[in-house]
This record gives sequence, structure tokens and C-alpha cells, in this order.
Amino acid sequence: MVVCSWIVVIVVICVVSYIIALLLVDCDLRLAWATKLGKRVDSLAGRVVWITGASSGIGEQIAIALAKGGAKLVLSARRVQELERARRLCSCESGKDLTDRDILVLPMDVTDVDKHDSHFQLVLQHFGKLDILVNNAGRSQRANWEDIELAVDRQMFELNVFAVVALSRIIVRYFQKKKEGHIVVTSSLTGVKAVPFSASYTGAKYALHGYPCLSLQLEKLRSNINVTLLCPGPVFSNFLSESFTDKSGEKFGQGVEPTDRRMKTDRCGYLCAVAIANKLEEAWMAVFPVIPFYYVFVYYPVIRSFFIRLLGPRFFLKMRDSKVRMETMEV
Ligand SMILES: NC(=O)c1ccc[n+]([C@@H]2O[C@H](COP(=O)([O-])OP(=O)(O)OC[C@H]3O[C@@H](n4cnc5c(N)ncnc54)[C@H](OP(=O)(O)O)[C@@H]3O)[C@@H](O)[C@H]2O)c1
Repeated sequence: MVVCSWIVVIVVICVVSYIIALLLVDCDLRLAWATKLGKRVDSLAGRVVWITGASSGIGEQIAIALAKGGAKLVLSARRVQELERARRLCSCESGKDLTDRDILVLPMDVTDVDKHDSHFQLVLQHFGKLDILVNNAGRSQRANWEDIELAVDRQMFELNVFAVVALSRIIVRYFQKKKEGHIVVTSSLTGVKAVPFSASYTGAKYALHGYPCLSLQLEKLRSNINVTLLCPGPVFSNFLSESFTDKSGEKFGQGVEPTDRRMKTDRCGYLCAVAIANKLEEAWMAVFPVIPFYYVFVYYPVIRSFFIRLLGPRFFLKMRDSKVRMETMEV
């Protein structure tokens, strides 16, 4: 009887600690653990990391966090001036650890998949090797499901899925020969559980989880090739204004407000760098209350359905964006 009571007490303490921890952290518990007791980002010193979408936002901050840890970098995106700015920032933040030669600016449009191999050859010519590929370039969307032009769905998948698959395939073949390597993909919490008013984006991120990530993870389970899925929630960046809408060639145009509940970009970049250093299979990061919500949504789908019906789609848009933008959507 006494033993039973002790077991009940221990179980209650564990459950309460788990709930309290979820309310305090801004990332999933495995990543939170890794930030305290896991490998530090400087364990990647000397590694060559290629980051796409490094000219702004999360990609730029991942680059800075890795530069601080002494990793050598290849920075890719379309805007050369912004890449040069990111290179200077990385160089500055790394202290004296990285020389000019340690950061290569490699402009590229990731959707131009025919040029992926020649870009990769330039990386090899410069550094002689590649250790980690971070597929981060991407764009989101704000639109009503029924209004989306098929052309937008296609462009979304070209950028967020096929560009990732095409580049990763080239690099995984190289990692196969090298017998080690690490593919990282910036997905989103949208790819873990769908959100309203971003249908093509949600579809693309779900595809990312299944196609280049989980299936590749399974096939390489017993090899030294690792796959990490980074899943940020709302983060301050150019992301919202750059988002697709329902019409081809159109951008959403509205920027984020300083008062929005979003994670700071540098915090997101640091958490991503820790997830990479610790080769986590999947890592979530977002400000309160997104993480506890996602734990409930993923592990208790019945509660998720209940909440969604109770609160309605506008509530979830509000959690993601501000009130002003919410008014613009027809619900
Ligand atoms: N911010 C968020 O709330 C959030 C949340 C979850 C997931 N994410 C994910 O985080 C990643 C980065 O987004 P972000 O928030 O940092 O937004 P961002 O500041 O707009 O950055 C997007 C990056 O992608 C690059 N890019 C876009 N199209 C490209 C193309 N065709 N070829 C090469 N590069 C391209 C952009 O550079 P150029 O314009 O110079 O090409 C830029 O560097 C995306 O995959 C996104 O899905 C963001």
C-alpha cells in the first residue's frame, strides 16, 4: 500500500513538473534540454555549413549563431547585397575566429534546380568539402483556401519542396560517398499541425516532413547521415510581407508589428543552431502559448478538434498574426 502511494506521488510530481516545464520553455523539451546539457554550438567549429535563404530572417540568424561557434559558412539567396551584409555580420560576430575565406557568398535562386550541381561544385572548389546543408529558403502565404490559383500552389511547391528535394539529393549522394553528413530543413509548426489561411504553404510544409525528411531519416537510420527538421512558430522576419497570396505574382505586403507575439529572430537562430549541433530529428521553437498548444494538439487530437470548433479559425490566425491582418481575411 505504501509502495503504491509512493508510485502515485512520483507520477503526480512527474506530470506536474512536465506541465510546468512546458509553460516555461520556448521550445520543445528535448531542445530545451539540449540548450542546457547538450552539445554546444561551438562543437561545429571548422564544419562547412551551406545555408539557403541566408540573406535575412531565420537563415541569417542561423548563420550568425553558427559563425559565433566557429563554423565555416556558405551563404545563399538571390539578393547579393543582403548576402554581403549577412557575411559582414557573421564575420564580425565570430570575433577573429573566421577569416574572409571562411565565409563564401554564393548567390542562387533555389528554384533554378538545373544549376544546383554547378553551385555545389563551387562550394567544393572553395572549401574542399561540405558537412551540413541547411535548406532554409522559403515563403509563406495568406489566402482563403477556395480562392488560391493553382499557379500559386505550384510556385509554393517549387520553392518550399522541390528545390529542397533537388538540392538535398545532390548533397546526400555526396554524403553517401563521404559516409557522413547532415541535412537540415527549415519547416514550420504549420508542417506539424495545419493552420488556417495558408493552405498551399501548409501543404508544402507537410510534404517537406514526409518526403525529404522523414523518409530520408528512415532510410539513413543506421548510417552517419542525419536529418534535422526545424519547426519554428511565428518569428519576427520579412516573412509575412513576402508571403504569397491567392494570386500568382502577388505578395501579401503587410509587415509584422513590434507588438506581435513572435519569437525574436536571433533566439530562433540560436535554437536552430543548438538543434543542428545536437543532430535532433525534429525541433520546435515558439513563444508562449504556442508550444503547450502544440503538445496538446499533437498528442491529444480529440482535444484539438474540440478547441478548433470552440475557438474558430480566426483565433488561430490571431495567434499567428495581429488583429489588423485578421480583419483582412474573409472568414
Ligand atoms: N518567420 C516565421 O514566422 C516562420 C515560421 C515558421 C517557418 N519559417 C520558415 O523559415 C524559413 C525562413 O523564413 P524567414 O522567416 O527567415 O523569412 P525571410 O526573412 O523572408 O527569409 C526568406 C529567405 O529565403 C530566401 N529566398 C526566398 N525565395 C528564394 C529563392 N527563390 N531562392 C533563394 N532564396 C530564396 C530569401 O532571400 P532572397 O529574397 O534574397 O532570395 C530569404 O533569405 C522559411 O522556410 C519559412 O518557411 C518562418
